[in-house]
Amino acid sequence: MNTIYRTVDKDRIDMSVIEEAASVIKAGGLVAFPTETVYGLGGDALLPESSKKIYEAKGRPSDNPLIVHIAEFDDIEKIVESVPEAAKILADKYWPGPLTMIFKKKPIVPDETTGGLDTVAVRFPSHPVARWLIRSSGGYIAAPSANISGRPSPTSGEHVRQDMDGRIDMIIDSGNCDIGLESTIIDMTGDVPMMLRPGYVNEQMLESVIGEIEKDPAVFGKADANAVPKAPGMKYRHYAPKGQLTIVSGDNDSVVGFIREKTEKKDKDIRVAVLCCSADSARFPDADLVGDIGSRDDELQIANRLYALLRRCDEENIDQIYSEEFDTPGLGLAIMNRLIKAAGHSIINV
Ligand code: TXA
Ligand code: MG
Repeated sequence: MNTIYRTVDKDRIDMSVIEEAASVIKAGGLVAFPTETVYGLGGDALLPESSKKIYEAKGRPSDNPLIVHIAEFDDIEKIVESVPEAAKILADKYWPGPLTMIFKKKPIVPDETTGGLDTVAVRFPSHPVARWLIRSSGGYIAAPSANISGRPSPTSGEHVRQDMDGRIDMIIDSGNCDIGLESTIIDMTGDVPMMLRPGYVNEQMLESVIGEIEKDPAVFGKADANAVPKAPGMKYRHYAPKGQLTIVSGDNDSVVGFIREKTEKKDKDIRVAVLCCSADSARFPDADLVGDIGSRDDELQIANRLYALLRRCDEENIDQIYSEEFDTPGLGLAIMNRLIKAAGHSIINV
C-alpha cells in the first residue's frame, strides 16, 4: 500500500488535507493523526471492517479494545447508554483533553471496536487537527496509538512513519505531541470510578472534582502477580525497546555510581545506553548512548521525551539500557508506569 504523507501546521490548519483524510476514513480506510497525547491510528469507529483493519495494521490482539474519539460532547449520546453525573463533572473540567472515560455502550458500537466488551472507552481530544478530523469524518474515530503493537507509542510523525509506512492509507504529521504519554483511563461504569491507566490527568486532579476514586489493583501494584488488569491493553508488555531495560532505584549518587560501573565494565561488543536527567548526563562517559530526559523539575519534558528515547535506543542498536527513576510529583505515576512496563518489571534496588 502506498501511504499518503501530509504535514499540517496545527496553528494554521490546511482544511484540504483534513477533507482528504476524512474521505479516507469515511471510505473505511485508516489515517494516523496527531493528538495531544500520542499519535492515533484512526478508522471509523462504527464500521466493523475499519476496526478489523486497525488490528491488522498494528499487529494487535483483537481482544484489546479501541478508544472511540469524539469532537463534540453531545455526540457521546449516540454511543453510550448513560453518562453518570461524575462523568459530566469530569468532562466539564478535563474535556477536551487527555482523559478517556469508560461507559456502557450502545449496540451501534460494533464488537470489533470494543473487543467484544459491552463497554466503550470514549475520549475527546484537544488537539485541533484531531478535532477537525473527527468532526469531518462523521464524529466517531476509533484510534489506538499508531505504533506496531509492542513498540513505544509514537510522539512524532516520523515515529508513525517508521511503524506504519506502507501499512495504512495516510499519515498526518503535525510534529511533536505536547504530552507524549497516552491518556488517563477511568472506568465510570461502577459505583466508584476506577483509574485503569495513569496519565496526565492524575489522581489528585480527578479526586479534586469528583471525590475519592479507586485504582485498578492489577495496574497499581496492590494485587498478586496473576491479577488481570481491567484495561486489557495494560496486560501486554507494551512500550518495549529491543534492548533489555533495567530501572535502577535508590538515592541518586548510588544509582549513578551503579550505572557508571556497569558502563565501565561492559563487554566491548555490548552497546549500553543510560536514561538519566540532565544533571547526571555528563556522568556516564563510557556509555554508548546517554539519553538526556530533561530536568527533574520539568516533568512534562520527561514525559515528552521518554518514548522518543526508547525508540532512539532501538535505532542505535542498544543491547542494555539502564534508567534512573523519574518519580516526579504530578506525572511520576504515569511516567513510571510506562517505564516499568518497558522494563518488563526489571528493577534493581541499590
Ligand atoms: O492517549 C490515548 O489514549 C491514545 C490516543 C491515540 O488517543 N490512544 C491509546 O489507545 O492509547 P491504545 O489502544 O493504545 O490504548 C487503549 C487502552 C488499552 O489498554 C485498552 O485495553 C483500553 O484502553 N480500553 C479500551 N476500551 C476499553 C474498555 N471498554 N474497557 C477497558 N479498557 C479499555
Ligand atoms: Mg497503545
